[in-house]
This record gives sequence, C-alpha cells and structure tokens, in this order.
Amino acid sequence: MPRKSLKVGPLHASLAAGRDGAEVTLGLGGAAWNRWYKGLADRRRAARDVAWNAAVPRLPAEPANPEAAALAARVASVGWYQTIDLGHGVLTPGEFNHIPHLAKYRLPETLAGKRVLDIGTFDGFWAFQFEKRGAAEVMALDVETFGDIDFPPNVRAGMADDLLATPLGRGFAIAHEALGSRVQRRTGSVYRLDAAEWGRFDVSHIGNVLVHLRDPALALQRMRAVTEGVAIISEMVDPDIDGLGDAPLMRYMGGQVNCNWWRYSTASLRQLALDAGFARVEEVARFNLPLRDSARDQRQVVLLAHTA
Ligand SMILES: C[S@@+](CC[C@H](N)C(=O)[O-])C[C@H]1O[C@@H](n2cnc3c(N)ncnc32)[C@H](O)[C@@H]1O
Repeated sequence: MPRKSLKVGPLHASLAAGRDGAEVTLGLGGAAWNRWYKGLADRRRAARDVAWNAAVPRLPAEPANPEAAALAARVASVGWYQTIDLGHGVLTPGEFNHIPHLAKYRLPETLAGKRVLDIGTFDGFWAFQFEKRGAAEVMALDVETFGDIDFPPNVRAGMADDLLATPLGRGFAIAHEALGSRVQRRTGSVYRLDAAEWGRFDVSHIGNVLVHLRDPALALQRMRAVTEGVAIISEMVDPDIDGLGDAPLMRYMGGQVNCNWWRYSTASLRQLALDAGFARVEEVARFNLPLRDSARDQRQVVLLAHTA
C-alpha cells in the first residue's frame, strides 16, 4: 500500500490507501513531543512549588522574640519529616505537609473521652492533632532505632552500625516540649501490638507506614487487635494498579529502595483491612500528597476501617 506521512510539531499522521481501502494513523512523539512534555512537567513542578511554599512558611527569618528564636534554632538542628505548627510563628520544615489535607480525613471535631493510638508517629504530627481534638489519652508508637525498620538483609548489610543504632524521635521530643503535649511516646513495633499490654483504642491511625513493612497483613491484624472503634488507614496507592476493578493488586518492590516493600491499590488496602478482622471499610479521601520539592505525584488514599 502506498503511504504518505505528515509531521506537524509533535503530531504525526500517515495515510495508506490501496484497493482494499484506506488506513489513517495518528500519533504523538519525537523530539518536539519530548520538549513539549518536559515543558509541561516543568510548569507543573513550578506551580506546585509555588503552592507548597505558600502553604508552608519556612522558619521565620526574624523570630518574633527570644523564645521563638530559641525554638527556631532547636528546630533547625534536626531533620523533619512532618510540618508541624509549633506556635511562635515556627513551623517545622517537613518533607510532607499534612496540614492542607486535614479536612479531607473527616476526623471528628472532638475526640473527647477517646483513647487514640498513632502508629509510626515519626515527628508526632498526627498524635498532636488527636490531642488537640481533645482525646483523653494519645499514645504514639514508633520503632526505637533506624535499624528496627524492616530493611532487607542485603540493604542492612551495607549500612553502618552507628546508622542502624541511631535513635528516632528527636523531632518528636522538640515538638512535644514546644506544644506542652501530654502524648505518650512508646517505642516498639506495630507487629507486637497486643491488647493485654496496650489496652484497646477507640481510634487508631496508621499513615504511610504499610508501604515500609515487609508484612502489612500482620501489622493490620495487630492494629485490629488493639482497636475497638475505627482505624484510620492512610497510604500511598500506585496509579498503575489502582482502580483496575476489584482485584486486590499489590506490586512487590522488595524493600531495596527507601525500604519500600509494596505499592498498593485501594482494593488491596481494603482487602488487607477486612482480612485483618475489620468489619467494614469505607474510603473517605484521595488526593495528591507531594513530597517537598519533588515533581513526583503521590496519590494518597484514606480508608476508615470499622470494627463493627
Ligand atoms: C513514612 S513515615 C510516616 C510517618 C507518619 N505516620 C505520617 O503519616 O506522616 C513511617 C514511620 O513508620 C515508622 N515505622 C517503620 N516500621 C515500623 C514498625 N515496624 N512499627 C512501628 N513503626 C514503624 C518509621 O519509623 C516512621 O516513623
């Protein structure tokens, strides 16, 4: 069949005509397409950085008073995972900022009288939120040292002993003191949660932890064992496998990079929660949670898993 081709910028078309009919092919690609796509990605990143910076003031250049200056200096002495408003105009420069997304979680306005557990608390953002909403008791759980995280053996073998022995929680301690918090931080693993030792919680929360766990099914079973009410399960989902019907797809990542063992679909998170013994699961939010200064989209889903 004789074929004629035409190229206009990133668009290319070809027409083939013969005795049996004609065939038109349309396509996008080539160097012009790559330039256009890169331009689009750069503009998106720039727009996001502007939004990010508007939402999260950095440490104040001129702290308002000596107390604020001392706090800002302490904050600057450690790395932060979460953006936390410590008062005095001081916000911690976290890698993730949950503040603009808080309303999406549909947290109760008041948690008065409730026992609440935050699993994998890191700097304590969620635990402090639960306290702010009036919880009677908030417990915050995290592993004791960096080496207690589920690194695969060959990754662990390449890590220095002093890195593995590094205690976590320096940011938490600074925030805890600055906020005058009564949250109780305990060290240990989600895998060992046990009602005989911890009692039961009306509300439990696990956010962006399951992705780092070799055994998410066990973790959710242990979470269910200490929850009598609702568990908030907030996790990153993989757009390539999310929404492909009801199949509970998970992608195995092996823990080799940033200790990421799994990429989840919403259906897999839902099924994991049901298999852990929760009675029903509802989705309350999905949104993009960007890593600070990164163009990468991170699709976040929030599920409420009810025990009754
Ligand atoms: C990616 S951070 C998420 C922090 C926080 N939950 C949030 O949503 O912003 C993962 C946290 O889980 C903790 N973690 C990892 N393995 C754990 C385990 N087996 N038990 C409890 N916490 C764990 C890490 O130390 C870290 O604080």
